[in-house]
Amino acid sequence: MKLEIINAKLNPLKEEDIRAIVEIERHPAVRKWLVEYADEEFERELEEYRRFFSELKSNDRVEVLVAKISDRVTGFLALWRMDDSAERTTSIGISVHPDYWGRGIATNLIKESIKLAKERGVKKLIIETLEENSAMKHVAEKLGFKLETVRKSKIFKDGMYHDEDVYSLQL
Ligand SMILES: CC(C)(COP(=O)(O)OP(=O)(O)OC[C@H]1O[C@@H](n2cnc3c(N)ncnc32)[C@H](O)[C@@H]1OP(=O)(O)O)[C@@H](O)C(=O)NCCC(=O)NCCS
Repeated sequence: MKLEIINAKLNPLKEEDIRAIVEIERHPAVRKWLVEYADEEFERELEEYRRFFSELKSNDRVEVLVAKISDRVTGFLALWRMDDSAERTTSIGISVHPDYWGRGIATNLIKESIKLAKERGVKKLIIETLEENSAMKHVAEKLGFKLETVRKSKIFKDGMYHDEDVYSLQL
């Protein structure tokens, strides 16, 4: 099964692709690790994603890469530019469908995003993750990201405070 990585700005997504992305974001095993997410009914969230993707081309703060296997969306990554400083610090958000974990999809998505970020003149990439997210931390470290900061008790989630780790990669 061949993994394809698609730039959603260059290849507009189909309705079924957007639906698959929302399903990944809403999957309980994914949501467990997300810090920010919309707590809405499916159709409303889908509508927001449709709007986001319809305006994507004109949004210069974000880039989206989509991973597909046999034309099915299995994961996606967003690069969010956080500031307009010379470093153009950009944050990575990523989710992979749990059925496809451990097959290198996140690794490939992040590698592609590093290339894209360099092309866009980004000098610093960051990954903000719950301290307990060992899989995310492992992938970040494997790709050369360094732990920059631990934000103590930054995240209130599921009834308790969690530390947030910030990993960074200078490009
Ligand atoms: C984190 C996530 C994106 C990783 O996706 P993935 O496609 O499974 O990642 P990969 O297959 O490229 O790599 C996973 C690596 O982590 C390792 N791993 C998996 N679970 C692990 C764990 N609990 N502890 C340490 N390492 C772990 C795998 O062995 C693999 O290592 P390897 O590449 O050295 O073999 C995926 O688990 C996910 O979508 N999680 C929910 C959403 C999320 O956490 N997003 C990030 C928020 S910042």
